[in-house]
Amino acid sequence: MVKAIILIGGPQKGTRFRPLSLDTPKPLFPVAGLPMIQHHIEACTRINNLKEIIILGYYPTNDLAQFVSEMNQKYKILIRYLQEFTPLGTAGGMYHFRDQVRSGNPSGFFVIHGDVCSDFPLSQMLEFHEKRPGALITVLGTEATKQQSVYYGCLVCAKETSEITHYVEKPSTFVSTLINCGVYFCSIDIFQIMADVFKKKEEAFYNGENGYGSENGCSGSMQLEKEVLQPLSGTGKSFVYQITDWWSQLKSAGSAIYANRHYLQVYRNKHPERLAKSKENQVNIIGDVYIHPSATVHPSAILGPNVSISAFATVGPGVRIRESIVLQEAVIADHSLILYSIVGRGTKVGEWTRVEGTPCDPNPNKPFAKMDNLPLFNSSGKLNPSITVLGCSVTVPSEVILLNSIVLPYKDLTRSFKNEIIL
Ligand code: GDD
Ligand code: GTP
Repeated sequence: MVKAIILIGGPQKGTRFRPLSLDTPKPLFPVAGLPMIQHHIEACTRINNLKEIIILGYYPTNDLAQFVSEMNQKYKILIRYLQEFTPLGTAGGMYHFRDQVRSGNPSGFFVIHGDVCSDFPLSQMLEFHEKRPGALITVLGTEATKQQSVYYGCLVCAKETSEITHYVEKPSTFVSTLINCGVYFCSIDIFQIMADVFKKKEEAFYNGENGYGSENGCSGSMQLEKEVLQPLSGTGKSFVYQITDWWSQLKSAGSAIYANRHYLQVYRNKHPERLAKSKENQVNIIGDVYIHPSATVHPSAILGPNVSISAFATVGPGVRIRESIVLQEAVIADHSLILYSIVGRGTKVGEWTRVEGTPCDPNPNKPFAKMDNLPLFNSSGKLNPSITVLGCSVTVPSEVILLNSIVLPYKDLTRSFKNEIIL
């Protein structure tokens, strides 16, 4: 029997996802019609013999309670949210709750970062891990470009055995183009390694050794990458399972548009029933589109490719939407255009208005390129071109143009804007 842990962090995380993470916890932001981490949960339910999914973070329990109970009912699998009392790092939380993870005697558990998206080949990873006796951890790895690799954990592995010989977390100079995807399978004995790390830190703290202040000495915080994975490399106990298909981080709002497109593509094979189809006298659909059954879309609107429309949203006559996400209860009035944008919950866009952003997709001419998760502003203080994001309950008037702009929640706009953050 195995379990799975999904790491979701907490309210202080997901800053690059603002303003969208201001009213919904980032892990619940809908991508291709489902909360981000529901894709993780679905991937976990495809594993034979998976007994429990633990969602681990430091969001208040209330923020996740409804989602967790819906997931329990839908997938008929035990799903729990465990709240860390303080940010415990990528390994500290699972070590703190180790008795809960170990209960029922699982042979091991998956650890999946809540902010990555992929087709999650979990069963294949498990099979790979089980074929390597003595393995304590298997890391999902993928190729990145030389320049981008340094923003990730970098792995060096032995070609024939896939054993990790060297690991550096976000190196300052180039180490390897093979990067850590933030998905692991750990044998249950990994807790012994964590116990040793914990003990060492505690001893150093009580001996008053330099660098061991209260925050990293006794707080229980532990980094899986630096404190577990790095020391395990070269010991014959850590391995990498490499993938070549799509994988991406979900850090900025722009990456949600990119992830939306890929998850919709995955539906073509796995859940074709979730994709909208053009029918006579009904909406015109181009490519992959998700429309929630409670949304109202006028038959003369044209949607797609790569569009998701959430519950109770309204799309008026003559509207054109492409490469965008429209959230719950948003209203797009007649003949408006939405392109490379996210329209927040309850936001109203007037008639004949144009809301447009710039895609931030990985460079298609560079093999293995990942998305650049650029900061909001460039070095000269100007806003980097990005998708347009309308926070929740914004009002956009008729006949204006919003280009590459970010609008904070509850704003009433009165004119057109270009390359601006509207606070
Ligand atoms: N529960 C909990 N508690 N989760 C946490 C905490 C914590 O204290 N800190 C971070 N997380 C979660 C985040 O929500 C996220 O899902 C994941 O752990 C990774 O956290 P980051 O600290 O943002 O790291 P990163 O994304 O920059 O880098 C990590 O992921 C990359 C792949 O996406 C590293 O593992 C890299 O090596 C890796 O390449
Ligand atoms: P390409 O980028 O080459 O596809 O040019 P395009 O002429 O299709 O324009 P664009 O990509 O900007 O727009 C995509 C779709 O939206 C096209 O089908 C346009 O007809 C339509 N469109 C463009 N502007 C508006 C507008 O202001 N209102 C409405 N209702 N539709 C628009």
